[in-house]
Amino acid sequence: MNTRTLQQVIRSIPTSDGGGVKLRRSLGQTQALRLDPFLMLDEFSSSNADDYIAGFPDHPHRGFETVTYMLDGHMLHQDHLGNHGDLRSGGAQWMTAGRGIIHSEMPQQESGRMRGFQLWINLPAQEKMKPASYQDILPEEIPRLKLPGGGEVKIIAGIAEIDGKTLAGPIQGISTEPLFLDVRLPVGGHFKHLIIKDHNAFVYPYEGRLEIGPVANRLPLEAQSAGILSMGEYLEIQAGDQATAFLLLAARPIREPIAQYGPFVMNTRDEIEQAIADYKNGQLV
Ligand code: CO
Repeated sequence: MNTRTLQQVIRSIPTSDGGGVKLRRSLGQTQALRLDPFLMLDEFSSSNADDYIAGFPDHPHRGFETVTYMLDGHMLHQDHLGNHGDLRSGGAQWMTAGRGIIHSEMPQQESGRMRGFQLWINLPAQEKMKPASYQDILPEEIPRLKLPGGGEVKIIAGIAEIDGKTLAGPIQGISTEPLFLDVRLPVGGHFKHLIIKDHNAFVYPYEGRLEIGPVANRLPLEAQSAGILSMGEYLEIQAGDQATAFLLLAARPIREPIAQYGPFVMNTRDEIEQAIADYKNGQLV
C-alpha cells in the first residue's frame, strides 16, 4: 500500500481581485505555483463587508473551468447570455468557460460573513473552445458521509468511499475526473481515502492545522496553505490538538503546454492573442 506524502507547501498570500475583494491565493500566485490541471485556488473569508462588497463585476474567461464553493454567504452570478444563478451557503457552481463567457459574481448581502473558494481547473486543448456550460449545485444536492471516528465528508465532485459506503458527488462529465471533497475532522480525528494513483492531488486546510502521510512519515500542514501530495494510492490525514476542516482536490493531469494571460488560459501565445482580439471585437463567445 502506497500512501501519499506531503511534497511541497504553498502558503497562501493575501491579495485582492475583481472589484477589490480581499482574498488569500495559494495555487496560482505565480504561474510556477500550479498543480496540473489546477491553475489557481482563492479563499475569501471576511465578516467585514468592505472586504467583499465590490464583488467581481463583468469579466471574461476562456479555455478553463471555474468552480465556486460557498461556505457562508450569498452571491448572484449573471452572464452575457442571460444565465443567472444564486450561490448560497453550502452550494457550488461549476462553470465550464470553454470558448468564452463574460460574467459577474456579486454579493447579495451587505453585512455578515462571506466565506468560500474559487478554484480554476484547466481544460485539455480539444475542449478549450467548446460552448460554455454550467452546473449549479444546491447545498442539499451535496451528499455527506459521517466518518467512523467523528467528522464528516461533503462530496462535491468524484466518488467518496468511506467505511464501506460509496457516494458520488453531483458534478458529472468533467474529463479531468476531479475529486473535490470538503472534510471536517474533530480533535484527534483520522481520515483515509483512496485517490486514483496517477492523479495530482493537494489538500487545503481552511480551519486548524493537520498532519499528512503514513505514521512513519507524517508532516504538518498549517491552515491557509496548499499541501501538494506525492503520487500514490492512499491519503491519510490526522488531526492533532485542533479540529480541522480541509478541501481535498485531485484530478488527472492534462500535460499540455499552458499559455495564460489573466482570465484566458490556452496552449499557445497565438491562441491568447486571438482570445484578446476576440474579446475586444465582441467575439469571445
Ligand atoms: Co469569473
